Amino acid sequence: RRKQEARLLELLDRTCRYYERQLWSAAEAGGARAELQRRGLDPELLREFRVGYAPSAFERVLTASRHAGYRPEELLAAGLVQRSRDRRDRVYDRFRRRITFPLADRRGRILGFGARALGADQKPKYVNSADGPVYHKGQHLFAAHLARKHAARVGEVILCEGYTDVIALHQAGRRNAVGLMGTALTPDQVGELRRMASVLVLALDADAAGRKAMLKAADLAAGSGLELQVAMLPDGMDPADMLVKRGAAALDQAFGRTISIGRFRVGQALEEADLQTAEGKDRAIADLRPIFATIDPGVLRMELVQDVARRLRLDPTVLGPLLDGPGGPPA
Ligand code: CTP
Ligand code: MN
Ligand code: MN
Ligand code: MN
Ligand code: MN
Repeated sequence: RRKQEARLLELLDRTCRYYERQLWSAAEAGGARAELQRRGLDPELLREFRVGYAPSAFERVLTASRHAGYRPEELLAAGLVQRSRDRRDRVYDRFRRRITFPLADRRGRILGFGARALGADQKPKYVNSADGPVYHKGQHLFAAHLARKHAARVGEVILCEGYTDVIALHQAGRRNAVGLMGTALTPDQVGELRRMASVLVLALDADAAGRKAMLKAADLAAGSGLELQVAMLPDGMDPADMLVKRGAAALDQAFGRTISIGRFRVGQALEEADLQTAEGKDRAIADLRPIFATIDPGVLRMELVQDVARRLRLDPTVLGPLLDGPGGPPA
């Protein structure tokens, strides 16, 4: 079993090396190189992340790996090939005509890939490794092996959504960033983040889905011992968009002024509230009560009470006790 796992890891590593060579030297990877350049990603960093290119042919990895002595079952187990739908005895390369982002474990050993389409016509946008003996969706964080020592040094770890977001953040000097790879945060990943640092900075996309995912992530991480902060990005952007549109310095600066999870939660609750009627305000207060129950007494709490009072057009001294609600303020 041990020996089999070692063979799969070796197969994944040599396939990664193959994709890397393709990206930097194959003629057909010209579009991939142009796309990465358009995104403002530094070639040196792309090499460190071992980004590559999977050619469009159907049997490149399959044929080369078979010549190197790997069996089709091993290629399937490594998630590099998939079975043909109509001819179940046939397998073909899973990643084709895509930019490849290798996913490594904490020691940097490659477990799988995420592969991005080149054009809008190519669907789906990302193809990821299927679960197998080495790759388990939801157990890993992208770039954990590169971010670990930086996260330990600064005491903070940044969590973003995607591959390109992590690379953009590293390029902006935030080398303590890791990525979720599109899934909802799992308890395994919370444990991993907690081992990396005591402060977790959420930096998911500044869109409705990203904000919702940050609230869910915060619920999951509550009680883990992690102190939560949220990075505020311009509306609709993710860190990779920000690198292209605003530059590395602006991206870095956004992480110099993160807000506490309590402030973020209050802001989100107010976004969703109807503040025109007394009934709407009562509902908003009911929604805010459990949030205020998580915020310790202090200056932040006082400030937030004042913010809410202004938005609801109420006297803060009247609002304060209403937010404490039944059970009273936290001790
Ligand atoms: N993702 C995925 N499958 C998809 C879409 C996304 O696995 N069909 C994962 C990828 O890991 C991706 C991350 O979710 O990096 C973020 O998704 P999203 O915000 O939708 O990606 P974009 O920012 O639009 O992707 P890109 O920056 O590459 O254009
Ligand atoms: Mn496992
Ligand atoms: Mn997104
Ligand atoms: Mn995104
Ligand atoms: Mn993006």
